[in-house]
Amino acid sequence: MKIKIKRYNKEKNEQTTIEEYSVNHNETILNSLIEVKTKYDNSLGFRCGCKSGVCGSCAIRVNGVEKLACKTHLEDEDLIEPIKNTEVLKDLIVSLHHEESLLKIGHTFLNSNSLETITKEDEKKIDRQSNCILCQSCYSSCPVYEVNKEFLGPYTLTRALRYVNDKKESAPLEILKNIQTNGIWDCTLCGYCTIACPQFIDPKSDIMSLRMKSVQNGFEDKSLSAFNSSFDLGFNNDFGFNPNGF
Ligand code: SF4
Ligand code: SF4
Ligand code: FES
Repeated sequence: MKIKIKRYNKEKNEQTTIEEYSVNHNETILNSLIEVKTKYDNSLGFRCGCKSGVCGSCAIRVNGVEKLACKTHLEDEDLIEPIKNTEVLKDLIVSLHHEESLLKIGHTFLNSNSLETITKEDEKKIDRQSNCILCQSCYSSCPVYEVNKEFLGPYTLTRALRYVNDKKESAPLEILKNIQTNGIWDCTLCGYCTIACPQFIDPKSDIMSLRMKSVQNGFEDKSLSAFNSSFDLGFNNDFGFNPNGF
């Protein structure tokens, strides 16, 4: 069986190449990468931790689609590439620095700990979003993040909803405030992040929930309010006819 791997080394400023290797049948992609490293080229760069879909470190793209290397079986001639929209350091290893800084900008963590009693029902409300393993597959698939690196992006926004809904968070409005700019209103709701997520988290619908909560709390999409104020919606017969037909 053949595996094709995109190779690049930032330090050496090398040309990007696609290298092909023969590997064993019926293995996960992670095992095939380990085989390539031990059998052919010890310099091959990739990340792995838990080897069981828990740590999120082995996210890659397989034929253009985001996958976890330890949870995906290799098919013949698969092309393995690093995840997109972030800096490639070496082969399949990418920089995680910028995306981590977005969590800080969005303040999507427990800002102030309330003394509320947490029930099982309360836990259930944040269960799904709490399963994020920070693998970055959603950022790799996001077309808005591709063109705007200031966009807070899917996992920061999913985590925002997690803490807005967390009874332990006593200042959820602060989180909502922090995600208005370069945040929930910039998403096109394309849903690619939802398809890419190996944890079956749904950042698209989380963003829709955050929009609803924002409106309920007096926030609005600033781009729309600017549009409305610059456009007279009155039908003062500028059209020369009644658009309602009576
Ligand atoms: S739904 Fe929004 S956050 Fe998700 S990939 Fe599309 S633009 Fe990005
Ligand atoms: S939301 Fe899903 S795809 Fe995005 S980082 Fe978390 S686990 Fe990965
Ligand atoms: S090695 Fe941890 S998720 Fe794959």
